[in-house]
Amino acid sequence: MRATVDTREAVAMDHDEHGRLQPAPRTVPIAAAAASDAGLDWLDVCAVDDVPLQGARVLKRPRGGDVALFRSAAGAVFALLDRCPHKGGPLSQGIVFGERVACPLHNWSIGLADGQAAAPDVGCARPFAVRVADGRVWMDAVQLRAAD
Ligand code: FES
Repeated sequence: MRATVDTREAVAMDHDEHGRLQPAPRTVPIAAAAASDAGLDWLDVCAVDDVPLQGARVLKRPRGGDVALFRSAAGAVFALLDRCPHKGGPLSQGIVFGERVACPLHNWSIGLADGQAAAPDVGCARPFAVRVADGRVWMDAVQLRAAD
């Protein structure tokens, strides 16, 4: 069974002339989500290989702030709002280690899976639903469209 995600009102991503991921409206056919994913509107945002191992890429959104896509050394993919819960540092420019990222401004350690700062620091970078299938990274279109 196949489903179609109409991304004309959502946020699809494509590369601009500099290789950065940018919004690009298009319609993407995807395999129907698994039962556990019911209620999510999966959107193909990029190839897994677009996100470097132990690195990050930025997804530009029209509103609500950019999203940082991370990939651990083991190849797991995570997505957080690209804003540190401390003073808003760009987490996409931090250093990925294990399943955490060190903020480039003041070195807070943020969990990639849940966005939580490691104690004694307190705060959370908003996590986004993400899955990998067929070499592509999929995110929930509703979450990406949200302004907060
Ligand atoms: S802004 Fe990230 S640690 Fe201060």
